[in-house]
Amino acid sequence: MTQWPRHGRIDGAIVMIGFGSIGKGTLPLIERHFDYDKELFVVIGPDDADRKLLDERGVKFVHLAITRENYRDVLTKYLKAGKGQGFCVNLSVDTSSLDIMEHCRAIGALYIDTVVEPWPGFYFDKNIGPEARSNYALRETVLAARRANPGGVTAVSCCGANPGMVSWLVKQALLNLAADLGDKGPEPKTRDEWGKLAHRLGVKGVHIAERDTQRAKTPKPRNVFVNTWSVEGFLSEGMQPAELGWGTHEKWAPENAGFHKSGCGAAIYLNQPGANTRVRSWTPTAQAQYGFLVTHNEAISIADYYTQRDANGAAIYRPTCHYAYHPCDDAVLSLHEMFGRAGVMQREHHILGEAEIVDGIDELGVLLFGHKRNAYWYGSQLSVEETRRIAPYQNATGMQVTSAVLAGMVWALENPNQGIVEADEMDFRRCLEVQTPYLGPVIGAYTDWTPLTDRPGFFPEDIDTSDPWQFRNVLVR
Ligand SMILES: NC(=O)c1ccc[n+]([C@@H]2O[C@H](COP(=O)([O-])OP(=O)(O)OC[C@H]3O[C@@H](n4cnc5c(N)ncnc54)[C@H](O)[C@@H]3O)[C@@H](O)[C@H]2O)c1
Repeated sequence: MTQWPRHGRIDGAIVMIGFGSIGKGTLPLIERHFDYDKELFVVIGPDDADRKLLDERGVKFVHLAITRENYRDVLTKYLKAGKGQGFCVNLSVDTSSLDIMEHCRAIGALYIDTVVEPWPGFYFDKNIGPEARSNYALRETVLAARRANPGGVTAVSCCGANPGMVSWLVKQALLNLAADLGDKGPEPKTRDEWGKLAHRLGVKGVHIAERDTQRAKTPKPRNVFVNTWSVEGFLSEGMQPAELGWGTHEKWAPENAGFHKSGCGAAIYLNQPGANTRVRSWTPTAQAQYGFLVTHNEAISIADYYTQRDANGAAIYRPTCHYAYHPCDDAVLSLHEMFGRAGVMQREHHILGEAEIVDGIDELGVLLFGHKRNAYWYGSQLSVEETRRIAPYQNATGMQVTSAVLAGMVWALENPNQGIVEADEMDFRRCLEVQTPYLGPVIGAYTDWTPLTDRPGFFPEDIDTSDPWQFRNVLVR
């Protein structure tokens, strides 16, 4: 695209928290797509390694870690600097999304983040137990804040690629599937109608099915954790319990599954780290593959969004939903190295910049399964080569995230009084319209593959042949 659209004007200050792989990649998209007062653009973070990018643009850099003690004062100072409405773009680790979101709403600033991040200490607190360290628990805190203060200034929770974009892809995939199955119903408008559509189409579940084939020029050194996005972020979520939205079609649960007694009830957790939990899944490039069942907000929010209940409130339909993530090969090796020593983390971390990558794509989409056409994958196949052509400072993984942040910012500007929202509740068409120029080929593909394909092999297996799409068959045991 030679002529990039300007999507709107941000009247007040823009305050970006964190300037890591996602912050750096979001910067050129903000510059390209919004009008704003340059004097009021501020980036805050404790690491100044890349401040040159900000200095050469005249963007103010505040060299500071946001903490429980200072967030109110610091954010008020910078977000209220201009006359218009400020916009807080939180792309950091180790800061509480909820506290910052609530403060932004209280001072009238728009807000967006890509994960429900807690203050430091939460992810690795051995004393609180797996249930309390779950994304289910984190998400419930955001839902409680929304119930306590409905409406008001828009704050977009969890709007990256996943969580984020994949919720929009699920809706488009459902419409594509409806058309292919000859479903004649009108396009859903409400949450209930979306749930009815998924139910009517017979969708038993959704994998967020990803294959990252980006290859580094230099082989991974021993004792270094290498990834294509935040190593810190990946380690934090990877050491949380595996979690999945728990579908109503499931007949079996693992012995170490935990069920929540309070909250929306849409998900369960396993008493094991997600990054050491393998599942069988499928993407167009990889075909059949192992992915890691790393916990993610969207596994819970999507399962919750599509739940249908009877008059007594009991769930009569819910899709199973979870991540099935094959990260780049270097990250797979890094995990193997780490879990080989009981989860003791490598001290050195490295995020592959686009210049360090030979080739590869991030193939990220949603696999809707269990319906009459078996399974349908819909998603983005963005290559690192295309990413280099369209925007600087990021690899393909980063671009899928930063373009979702862009789409979420546009939606928030256009809908400034929607209160706290998740990606499932946003206008998926508008968001995908903004984001699609950054996604490379966006394709849909049907497959005959099921988790039982070519099984059992040489050895007997505990499988359920009556329904290939049972979690019993998906989970690698
Ligand atoms: N939803 C998605 O699709 C998605 C994808 C990738 C990353 N993410 C999330 O986005 C966030 C950023 O990811 P990244 O790859 O840029 O991470 P990164 O590790 O590259 O960067 C993290 C940034 O946070 C900053 N930071 C650390 N402590 C801070 C503090 N106390 N106050 C302010 N800033 C602080 C660091 O200095 C760094 O600039 C992470 O939370 C990650 O989980 C979401």
